Amino acid sequence: MKANKLFKQTPYILAIDTSCDETSVAVTHGEEVCSNTIHSQLDLHKAYGGVVPSIARLEHEKKLPAVIYDALSSANITSQEIDAIAVTQGPGLAIALEVGIAHAKKLAKENQKPLLAVDHMVGHLFSWITPGTLSEVNLPAVGLLVSGGHTELILVGEGFTLQRIGETFDDACGEAFDKFATMIGVGYPGGPEVSRLAAAGRNAGLLNAQLVRDHSTLYAVGLDPQTGEEQMRLPLPMAFSNDLNLSYSGLKTAVKQLINKLSNTSDNAGIKQTGENSNLTEEEMQKLCVIFEYAALQILLLKLEQALIKHADVKEIWLGGGVAASLQFRSLVKALGERRGVRVRYASDTKLLTDNAAMIGLAAYVLGINSEETKNSTGGKFLYLPSELDLLERQPNRKI
Ligand code: KG4
Ligand code: ZN
Repeated sequence: MKANKLFKQTPYILAIDTSCDETSVAVTHGEEVCSNTIHSQLDLHKAYGGVVPSIARLEHEKKLPAVIYDALSSANITSQEIDAIAVTQGPGLAIALEVGIAHAKKLAKENQKPLLAVDHMVGHLFSWITPGTLSEVNLPAVGLLVSGGHTELILVGEGFTLQRIGETFDDACGEAFDKFATMIGVGYPGGPEVSRLAAAGRNAGLLNAQLVRDHSTLYAVGLDPQTGEEQMRLPLPMAFSNDLNLSYSGLKTAVKQLINKLSNTSDNAGIKQTGENSNLTEEEMQKLCVIFEYAALQILLLKLEQALIKHADVKEIWLGGGVAASLQFRSLVKALGERRGVRVRYASDTKLLTDNAAMIGLAAYVLGINSEETKNSTGGKFLYLPSELDLLERQPNRKI
């Protein structure tokens, strides 16, 4: 571990994240999370089938002061005792990010503390940190960040330098889960429910899923466990693209066609629409979830393994983002890690995998002790002294 460059002693950091639909504030002390308050706006956005930016902004404005208060009192600390403020600068919804940044500036000004600008995805990347773990990491590591808005592979080199080595060209993996869930009428966000239905389908032995190569396309194929007959298939786009990039839009289109076909041929057919009017039986839903989840996760596994082959010196895999809350995903990655002799790290508390501010405080700490004082690991400005606060602006399209 390099010398602590920015902090003279282990810092208490108050971190704020308002990048999407969670209003979150945390207090961290070095590698330790002292508090992590999250106010979810899920119920407000559910009716719209996705996050509505203007509603998110209003709700952040309404709730953030109370969430800051709660995070400080849960950590049993006052704002004067905090050493630095950290805030998510991007990526995220511009008008939502602004709320967190305005409050962070205010706190930094009032208490004359430095303000640290953190990348939301770098937060996901370091969300697994617990006391004592930073000094035991073996670099290089590869981070696989899978959320509702992003799907990225990040190479973490010595000194925690970051390089994006792969990303999705269209939909994010979590977004594909959410859209698929809407198609079969299980609501938003769909990931957890699709996971649950897939597990039920697997446990009931409804479908055997496997990969089959057909010319230049790789397919996830669902076989009848009794007869071995093929029942459904979905493509894994870009499986052989010779790079580490991903795509989910082809899978989304293919599963929509599959659902429409099934809806039309069900015993009690007649309703062609998907979504709430979907005419699928419970068994069909479970089978679809088995094959969809299998396809969506196998794309990740495939690219992750290709990353390990390409960067053969990688010693660790770090998982982050909401999709990593999937037990199935984590057990598949663990098996891959064991097979290749690579350690797998992820936060065991699901709260740290989905959006939260503790990960922003942890990332701020890592950057603070490893980056040059004025530079973020993503190349931008990281440290804003109280006299420089006006320079800090949101970066909704920021990329690692
Ligand atoms: O990281 P996150 O909380 O928010 C973003 O930064 O986007 O990720 C949310 C995403 C949603 O798309 C949600 O459907 C997905 O994570 N998700 C899951 C599971 N739990 C959450 N996807 C698949 N399986 C799950 N168990
Ligand atoms: Zn996120």
